[in-house]
Amino acid sequence: MSLVENLKWRYATKKFDASKKIAAETLEEIKTAIQLSASSYGLQLYKIIDVQDPELRKKLQAAAWGQSQIVDASQLFVFTTPTTLTAEHIEEFIQLTADTRGLDPAVLNDYSDFMKGALLKQTEEGAKSWMAKQTYIALGNLLAAAAELKVDACPMEGFDAAQFDEILGLEGWTTSVIATLGYRHEEDGLQHAAKVRKAKSVLFETK
Ligand SMILES: Cc1cc2nc3c(=O)[nH]c(=O)nc-3n(C[C@H](O)[C@H](O)[C@H](O)COP(=O)(O)O)c2cc1C
Repeated sequence: MSLVENLKWRYATKKFDASKKIAAETLEEIKTAIQLSASSYGLQLYKIIDVQDPELRKKLQAAAWGQSQIVDASQLFVFTTPTTLTAEHIEEFIQLTADTRGLDPAVLNDYSDFMKGALLKQTEEGAKSWMAKQTYIALGNLLAAAAELKVDACPMEGFDAAQFDEILGLEGWTTSVIATLGYRHEEDGLQHAAKVRKAKSVLFETK
């Protein structure tokens, strides 16, 4: 099936079949799609926690409007970003680029200074919001990759980030968005509902 056909097949799953688990190789494919996501400057300033502990899941469900996906889905991915953007983040990326491409990091000094100049002048709130935006690009790839692999998913913002951070014991990191992945329950009525989307004539404009 084409990507568009698979995107028509997918829907934000409300009720997962808790007995169905995603196979390891399928999960690896989804992780690779996330890894390959574009990010501003390529910095990838996020980390994804694959929460598998059922007790943690139960606590997180209470901090996510009691939504059943949190405990029933095969996987719960929590996208987190650093609480503060620092020069070290940029320097780590420069080192990774140099190592990957066999370069002397010194040849990237101007680029490093350019990034630092552009990014470190942001307010803490501005930087937090900019880092969170990057996680949504990865989330989009997760949704598309899952659809291609016929894995169901639900992107979710219905949770309390401060409570998530505390339950997960995050230090120096904060939750931006989450996604549950697994297989739809046959009783999830929404799988039969027509997709509600604006017409392309409304969504697009030519100038
Ligand atoms: C960032 C984001 C947050 C969302 N949060 C939730 C959520 O907390 N719970 C939920 O059931 N659905 C959530 N959704 C699903 C949307 O309601 C759903 O994607 C939208 O209604 C379009 O329907 P479709 O994805 O089934 O095509 C979220 C979607 C996005 C993109």
